[in-house]
Amino acid sequence: MTEPENIELLLARLSTDIQASRKYRSLDLPQETLRDLLEQELTKGRSGNAALQAVREKLHNIVAPYLGDPDYQAAAFMLDEAIHSRDEKNIKATCNDILAAHASTRERISMLDSFYQQLWSVTGVPGSILDLACGLHPFGLPWMGLPLETRYHAYDLHTPRIELINHFFKLLGREPLAVVQDVLVSPPKVQADVALFFKEAHRFEQRQKGCNRPFFEALNVRWLLVSLPAADLSGHHSMIDRQRSLMDSILIGLDWPVQELLIGNELVFCIRKT
Ligand SMILES: C[S@@+](CC[C@H](N)C(=O)[O-])C[C@H]1O[C@@H](n2cnc3c(N)ncnc32)[C@H](O)[C@@H]1O
Repeated sequence: MTEPENIELLLARLSTDIQASRKYRSLDLPQETLRDLLEQELTKGRSGNAALQAVREKLHNIVAPYLGDPDYQAAAFMLDEAIHSRDEKNIKATCNDILAAHASTRERISMLDSFYQQLWSVTGVPGSILDLACGLHPFGLPWMGLPLETRYHAYDLHTPRIELINHFFKLLGREPLAVVQDVLVSPPKVQADVALFFKEAHRFEQRQKGCNRPFFEALNVRWLLVSLPAADLSGHHSMIDRQRSLMDSILIGLDWPVQELLIGNELVFCIRKT
């Protein structure tokens, strides 16, 4: 078993590395994420340097910088202009540009006009939402058809994303309920009608095999909507069977009814937590 002081030492080295890295410096990743990743590797019996290397590889997959980012400062300015114009077309065009900056949200753009109607036809229009590992997804709000009273809690590891989302919420007259939080290490305790966990469950399994089930159990929500890609990035190979097996293995033995929706390239498992 590793001595606690070794963990503190390695954590300090990891934090220094991250501060020096152009890729991660501006993200201000939560300490709880770094500590958790390090602890996982040390528990597997990896020694100092090997553990640090394994954590760096995991971080690359978790933060996934290759999926894309907007220019955060420019995006904040564009949002100011668009929302002050009060022109819905203008607001949607600006959000569209932000959604297009990241692969996960870009893929959904052609479906936005019907995506949320289909979700809410299963769950009802929610009065409160948890958007878990949200990425840029909250910029879909202009298509969601949610009243201003709906409480929209958004969570991500990535500080510039969360700051931009809170800026957007405030411009819309919503409460700035976006927070930097590792939802795997600290699952939100907030009670809500619907939790959205889009395009991330397969990465959670890669981070820590078997972690999705306790994560799902910890959430204090009536509906949990989990989406996974229905085809690979080329769009040629169906991944539906693989995603169903993953969800079956997570939910095995739980008495939670599941309804599937296939919307564009997204397979949404609508789970009624009882
Ligand atoms: C593939 S993107 C998906 C974004 C969004 N859910 C969507 O479908 O449009 C994954 C996002 O999850 C965030 N993320 C990954 N692990 C997380 C964790 N444990 N807690 C909070 N956010 C996390 C990443 O920073 C990234 O913004």
